[in-house]
Amino acid sequence: VKELLNSASTLPEVNAKGWVRTFRNNQFIALNDGSTINNIQCVVDFENTADEILKRITTGAAVSVTGALVESKGAGQKYEIQVATLEILGDSDPEKFPMQPKKHSMEFLRENAHLRVRTNAFGAIMRVRSVLSFAVHSYFQEKGFVYVNTPIITGSDAEGAGEMFKVTALPFDNTPRTEDGKVNYKEDFFGKETNLTVSGQLEGETFAMALGQIYTFGPTFRAENSNTSRHLAEFWMIEPEVAFNDLNDNMDLAEEFIQYVIKYALEKCPEDLKFLESRLLDEEKSKPQAERSEMALLEKLDFVLKNNFKRVSYTEAISILRDSTPNKKKKFNYIINEWGADLQSEHERYLVEKHFKCPVILFDYPANIKAFYMRLNDDTEPGKETVRAMDILFPGIGEIVGGSQREERYDVLIEKMKALGIDEEELSWYLDTRRFGSAVHSGFGLGFERLVLFVTGMTNIRDVIPFPRTPGSAEF
Ligand code: 4AD
Ligand code: MG
Repeated sequence: VKELLNSASTLPEVNAKGWVRTFRNNQFIALNDGSTINNIQCVVDFENTADEILKRITTGAAVSVTGALVESKGAGQKYEIQVATLEILGDSDPEKFPMQPKKHSMEFLRENAHLRVRTNAFGAIMRVRSVLSFAVHSYFQEKGFVYVNTPIITGSDAEGAGEMFKVTALPFDNTPRTEDGKVNYKEDFFGKETNLTVSGQLEGETFAMALGQIYTFGPTFRAENSNTSRHLAEFWMIEPEVAFNDLNDNMDLAEEFIQYVIKYALEKCPEDLKFLESRLLDEEKSKPQAERSEMALLEKLDFVLKNNFKRVSYTEAISILRDSTPNKKKKFNYIINEWGADLQSEHERYLVEKHFKCPVILFDYPANIKAFYMRLNDDTEPGKETVRAMDILFPGIGEIVGGSQREERYDVLIEKMKALGIDEEELSWYLDTRRFGSAVHSGFGLGFERLVLFVTGMTNIRDVIPFPRTPGSAEF
């Protein structure tokens, strides 16, 4: 359909197969084959078509139409197909097909994730998602990064946050158990406790220390019980890791990368994005003025391309947040008083949306709120140690990237692991990177769905992944 719509001239005969979106006046089929947001109009010669056939042209039915591609007299499209032969490939009972062309609630659509992709909006979102994944590869491949597939089943907890799904190998009833009924991992498939990966970073680091610049792009899993519009139990993460990069290089890379993929989507999906923008504008009309966003979708994307991300240290951010929270006026649910506290998403969003009004890179976080592998800053006072961490915060999203320069000094890393009770034996393979040819290196993780959220302007992360996994929801 996309090809036909972009065709340079009329043609004596073309064929299109797809699904009926609407059928108007017993004459006009809007046909969608998934290639574009624009349907192709197929004009049926209803006077010479049997009623039996006309009745079967219903929303959702699969049809094949053949006929001349002619210039359209109607507004809204350049070409249409003058149907000569029409074949119903698969019926769709209008009494039963749930995706009728009307407004459905997002909850209803989520419950029908296998069918919601037949709607205009989800078709557009999924095409944009696909193009963005390609953009990720395109960016790194152009720069000579090596794509690495890190394991999905792993024995280590890369983030040390204990939010993992356990993997056991045998059917439930045969799982070896200890006397107290717990899974006996020693006798289980892998002979040890394993889980689904929360991040490919640690394995990625070992490859960066051999191949120089690498990236991963794969599924990651978090068993955090957070039912928010920004969290999934299964999400895709992109994790570049680069030898000899320090934290500033890391920020430069992240900023250039994000701008590249957004630009790529704007170039490859202009119609889908325009459609999503107009859909959003419609939605916004029902909101009170104060809640409407200041920029339309395309304007917002363009803004990110044209403006540098603001780089702000954690310490600076804390003082901004303190100053903006006068005692009497409660701006935040959770008020930050102390240096060292972790930022909540309300603070991150305040900094981005109200204070700086642009994407922000926060860096140099307190050591004790970040992961064990981050590079300790040399010049901090005892009790106020900071690490070379960076989080990128986006308007409407909050944290989109988390990354750091890594602790490359063996002794310092060992000390840190000891203090946190992390098993050195278990991570001995990881420590080899520091034992043999250690060097400064940095990397980050970008949550792919948060990027898709930003680019499509959607507000719930469940709506930018084909089959969302969240607490209590894994129907498909
Ligand atoms: O900040 P996180 O936990 O960082 C890491 O995992 C590092 N190992 C990355 C690295 O340095 N290589 O996660 C990185 C990003 C977050 O900024 C966020 O965008 C996304 O992953 N993310 C989630 N996205 C959806 N649902 C969740 N539950 C997410 N948790 C993290
Ligand atoms: Mg993080």
